[in-house]
Amino acid sequence: MDDLKSRYLGMIANAADEAALEDVRVAALGKKGEISLKMRELGGMSPEERMTAGPALNALKDEINSALAAKKMALGDAALDERLRTEWLDVTLPARGRRQGTLHPISQVTEEVTAIFAEMGFAVAEGPRVESDWYNFDALNIPGHHPARAEMDTFYMRRAQGDNRPPAVLRTHTSPVQIRTMEKQGAPIRVICPGSVYRADYDQTHTPMFHQVEGLEEFVKSYFEVDHVDLRFRASHFPFTEPSAEVDIRCSWEGGTLKVGEGDDWLEILGSGMVHPKVLANAGVDPDEWQGFAFGLGIDRIAMLKYGIPDLRAFFDSDLRWLRHYGFSALDVPTLHAGLSR
Ligand code: PHE
Repeated sequence: MDDLKSRYLGMIANAADEAALEDVRVAALGKKGEISLKMRELGGMSPEERMTAGPALNALKDEINSALAAKKMALGDAALDERLRTEWLDVTLPARGRRQGTLHPISQVTEEVTAIFAEMGFAVAEGPRVESDWYNFDALNIPGHHPARAEMDTFYMRRAQGDNRPPAVLRTHTSPVQIRTMEKQGAPIRVICPGSVYRADYDQTHTPMFHQVEGLEEFVKSYFEVDHVDLRFRASHFPFTEPSAEVDIRCSWEGGTLKVGEGDDWLEILGSGMVHPKVLANAGVDPDEWQGFAFGLGIDRIAMLKYGIPDLRAFFDSDLRWLRHYGFSALDVPTLHAGLSR
């Protein structure tokens, strides 16, 4: 018994790590461990022998168990000390870069346009994107039979069966916001109405959703100042303005790249005109007292032009590579005092 005790306590004291300690435990107290086997021999002893051997073996077992536990704790502490000594963290290292989202060019250009017009005294007005045919067409002097309805490639909303009202539409332009604003505010008005509009059209310079900013003012002398870019004012026709003009910007498409201010091509960027007296009357503004000047500018188009983005369709593909390339830093908001010119 004394021999067993000194042998195992010695082995425990010498165990170099937790694995070695476990080997000692198995050798002594495992199923086939030396002490376990001794305990099993108790059954074959005489009652007298058992009286002394039993308690002695149990005491030995307890002593070995507590020696194992104490050693285990000591080894654990030593391992932790060793880790704390060798492992360390350099808190002065620079942090790993985190990718930030970017502002879409449409958001950026809408902000720029809004900042420029705000400086000229324009307020911002908004209207719904699902519009009644009255606001999108009739009030703008485009009655039911008018060819302009077909030309607009309109998306119509479905009505429930048996509902015979004319279908609502996805607004084809921001001009209905003119009407809504005149109704609400009367004249005089100086507003711009930015937002998305919808037409069934798709090629390099057309997408089924695009963006316009509508401008409406009592009278504007000069509403568009661009240096070093040729603008072409072209007599045009809109049912809701008389007379009407469209404005094109000189550009070139050479090699599939869009360049502004050179070449022999023209890209339409806005429609404009004096608001038709019928439209004023439709919105409750007296045409004998007031006249209006309105324009509708394609935000997507001027974004392409300003930032050299060759294909409008990519604007709405949500391709991360495109967004990272053409997107703007969220902190890079356009302000007039930061150099945005007018
Ligand atoms: N609403 C017209 C369009 O979408 C543009 C426009 C607006 C024309 C205001 C004249 C006046 O094409």
